Amino acid sequence: MHAEESSASPSEPCHVSVMPDEVVQAVAECQPKVIIDGTFGAGGHSRLMLELMDANGSIIGMDRDPAVSARQEAAEQAGQSDPRLSVFLGSYEQSPKALEACDLEKACAMVLDLGLSSDQLADRSRGFSFQHDGPLDLRFDPERGVPASQWMARHSEKEIADAIYQFGEERFSRRIAREVIRRAREGKAVKTVAEMVDVCRRCVPRGKNHDIHPATRTFQALRIAVNDELGILQRTLAHCADWIRPGGVLVVISFHSLEDRLVKHAMRDDQRWEVVTRKPLRPTDAEIETNPRSRSAKLRVAKRL
Ligand SMILES: C[S@@+](CC[C@H](N)C(=O)[O-])C[C@H]1O[C@@H](n2cnc3c(N)ncnc32)[C@H](O)[C@@H]1O
Repeated sequence: MHAEESSASPSEPCHVSVMPDEVVQAVAECQPKVIIDGTFGAGGHSRLMLELMDANGSIIGMDRDPAVSARQEAAEQAGQSDPRLSVFLGSYEQSPKALEACDLEKACAMVLDLGLSSDQLADRSRGFSFQHDGPLDLRFDPERGVPASQWMARHSEKEIADAIYQFGEERFSRRIAREVIRRAREGKAVKTVAEMVDVCRRCVPRGKNHDIHPATRTFQALRIAVNDELGILQRTLAHCADWIRPGGVLVVISFHSLEDRLVKHAMRDDQRWEVVTRKPLRPTDAEIETNPRSRSAKLRVAKRL
């Protein structure tokens, strides 16, 4: 699939930032001088947060997607990037390295807007959207690790079923894994989005309690597994209090219960954090109407003691 077939142009991201006012308000409280935007994406949150800072402020953007850092490099070369912004290719788990590279010790705020961007969803070569066919890849960084199709080829039926159950909460995970393995044994291994969607359609009955697409949970699960999303989030939550100054804030937007549970417990159970949002903030009805992608967002904030 050629890049020009994607509806997203690399120079013009289409992603609309989720809960922008809430993020800015949470970060503004600590009058930040250094912010880590751990999931830079289209840079929407960063652009708004730059407005909070004076000429000496800095934002460190991190993203695992090489398309994001390439877009930022192009903006820098065209003189269209704010000099207070530095974007690094890599996981937010590596924020301390990025701080060091910028000669900074700690940040005042860290923002994580988890999951994938609309630009990644729109790029058919990535396999994130089950509405369009393409290779079953699902990696945030296509230059590292293995695509989801190979991930399945390297794991047993039980391991595939467990991942789909654990990361997708899909009740029909065993049936799906059995069908994946059956096809592989017959020399018709699942390699494309359309083939995986077909497996899900055959294995997930459309009952009255199934108001979502039969492939939704499975694609979420494969994406989480291939990118080790929960492992990275868990390790980061365990360590990020060391990267943030006292008085600083951690702001996390999650999009499903597995992530939100980790965030809630990490903020509540670590004595270095004071929970600012007892209940997660949710997007307004008006935001959900203009940006339906925001509908499952939950935003939690904790203050570093
Ligand atoms: C929802 S988008 C962020 C959008 C951004 N906040 C904005 O307003 O434009 C999530 C981004 O996080 C990136 N991402 C996912 N996991 C990551 C990780 N562990 N480290 C860094 N970036 C990650 C994805 O590649 C994607 O670009």
